[in-house]
Amino acid sequence: MIPPLKKGDEGGFSDEIQYERKYMLRDKYCGEINEQDIGSTLNIAGWANKWRDHGGVIFIDLRDRSGIVQVVFNPEISSDIHALAHRVRNEFVIQVAGEVRKRPEGTVNPSIPTGQIEIIAKELKILNECRPLPFMIEDETDASESLRYKHRYLDLRRPVIQKNLITRHKAVKGIRAYLDSQGFIEIETPMLTKSTPEGARDYLVPSRTNPGHFFALPQSPQLFKQILMVSGMDRYYQIVKCFRDEDLRADRQPEFTQVDMEMSFAGREDIIAVTEGMIRKVFADAAGVDLQTPFQRLTYYEAMERFGCDKPDMRFALELKDVSDIVKDSSFKVFLDTLSRGGIVKGLNAKGLAVYSRKELDDLTKEVRSFGAKGLAWIKIKNGFESPIAKFFPEQALKALAERLEAKEGDLLLFVADSVKVANDCLSRLRNEMGRRLDLIKDGVYAFAWITDFPLFQWNEEEKRYEAMHHPFTSPMEEDLEGFLSVPLSELRTPNSKLSSLRAQAYDIVLNGYEIGGGSIRIYKKEVQDRMFQLLNISPEDASVKFGFLLEALEFGAPPHGGIALGLDRLVMIMAGASSIRDVISFPKTQKAVCPLSNAPSEVDPKQLRELSIKLDIVE
Ligand code: AMO
Ligand code: AMP
Repeated sequence: MIPPLKKGDEGGFSDEIQYERKYMLRDKYCGEINEQDIGSTLNIAGWANKWRDHGGVIFIDLRDRSGIVQVVFNPEISSDIHALAHRVRNEFVIQVAGEVRKRPEGTVNPSIPTGQIEIIAKELKILNECRPLPFMIEDETDASESLRYKHRYLDLRRPVIQKNLITRHKAVKGIRAYLDSQGFIEIETPMLTKSTPEGARDYLVPSRTNPGHFFALPQSPQLFKQILMVSGMDRYYQIVKCFRDEDLRADRQPEFTQVDMEMSFAGREDIIAVTEGMIRKVFADAAGVDLQTPFQRLTYYEAMERFGCDKPDMRFALELKDVSDIVKDSSFKVFLDTLSRGGIVKGLNAKGLAVYSRKELDDLTKEVRSFGAKGLAWIKIKNGFESPIAKFFPEQALKALAERLEAKEGDLLLFVADSVKVANDCLSRLRNEMGRRLDLIKDGVYAFAWITDFPLFQWNEEEKRYEAMHHPFTSPMEEDLEGFLSVPLSELRTPNSKLSSLRAQAYDIVLNGYEIGGGSIRIYKKEVQDRMFQLLNISPEDASVKFGFLLEALEFGAPPHGGIALGLDRLVMIMAGASSIRDVISFPKTQKAVCPLSNAPSEVDPKQLRELSIKLDIVE
């Protein structure tokens, strides 16, 4: 029989895994057995990852969190054990006692860490069986997301996902250690709370004790962390779940985790320095990467100008160029009409792609149209200028375009004419696409950038009003304070008014084209906050209903303060090389915001609804 416990404490577990072994069914993790163990007999336990019968000898790859080890069942060593091994199927849970042996010549597998050795099984115990699998446990899988999430316990057995969760754990550990060393204290804030100002839809929770009243789950701890500054807590952080009912994408989940921070008596530079220090530590601890700080910085204006968006992928250059001043000398009606309507013409140089066929260009045009552009104009630099629109341009203008875009023979110039917003948006997406096609994005590069000096307000075209670009507690830039205080209220309803030129003390941090965090220096004076609500057209009554508790706190000696929140899921996703935050979240929701594992959300018992004084009237 396999002894259920092994006496003595010698050997066995790696430094990282030193816990009570008394009741463990194993001596060592599968993936940690190495050549130093050759000759010793070990107990191991795990899942049968793969089963092969090679002419009477059975091979089982045994898997646990640490990796895989090959176990050999030879009928000549024990026919009973061999017969039992015949019953093992994929994902059976087994315990094996066996001798570690160097693999025979020619059977070494250099692609796995335990590829030099194997275990010659002397005993075998089937601890549990497993039903036929809905999909194979492999890193590369074509199982659908809903099937994977329905059986997330199986999906989580895939080594790649296990690795991601371990990376996440290490990142969180690094964050806590770093922030602790910098004098931050971790404070929890309520989950059952009021709507916060991040601007997404709330998840609501009905109150049984107050019929007709609802809590909102926090979109962020914004209001509470500011109140903690008023309370004198000085440096706060929290690794915290936030809830936003918004349309989901690969980098968005309805519940996600923020590394939320706030500091008193601090300015932007202090917050940037702490954040950079923390990210350095996280990358060193969780990914073994030594990052260079300080990260580069761009103003919002510069980012829009050069890259067309406020979260540019800085792993490659491929900058956009405004060519409106050049194309005004052409007779190309599309461009001239755009300019006369106040739009722009911007372009980029897809280096070396003059080889694109007509079909490839048509397909690219279709793609850019799907981004919202009306079309895509192109000029090939190929024995002169080859383009359906070249005839509308004087030679001089074509040369000027080539010069502006630093074009050489063989290059392809691409242009979009539209409103500033649409042209930038489409070209920034085209830039990312061309970055991929031109293979400009290298693995293992982490290109961080701070985007600063955001506009304070942005125009909401649907509602014909201004809204806070970050949130309404963000302070205007010192230099713009006077303008902020003096803008006439008549400008509140017109786009591109003086309001749009005011800048905020807000900053985002961007990594490889993702916004991984954002924050600001806050308004800490009641008068300034009141003025902010006035400019946002929020009445004092509304402000008081929504945020009264913070506004009142500001009147009781609020210190200057500011902070930031990082999206932990996005940060870990990029660090782990995953393509969706769902791959770094243990139990994610699908695109439709449901959990196929637990079947949440679900209908509830009518009794529960009655207790909550809720009557359903479902509107289709
Ligand atoms: P913000 O709304 O910019 O700021 O959020 C901070 C960061 O959180 C991440 N994030 C998300 N990640 C996954 N899924 C989502 N649905 C999602 N939404 C946001 C992003 C984002 O940069 N209270 C302010 C912070 C502050 O001012 O201190 C706030 O919440 O990476
Ligand atoms: P058209 O005159 O509409 O046939 O367009 C001529 C070329 O200009 C086509 O290649 C279109 O894709 C391109 N084009 C049309 N509208 C735009 C636009 N707004 N910006 C850039 N190119 C455009």
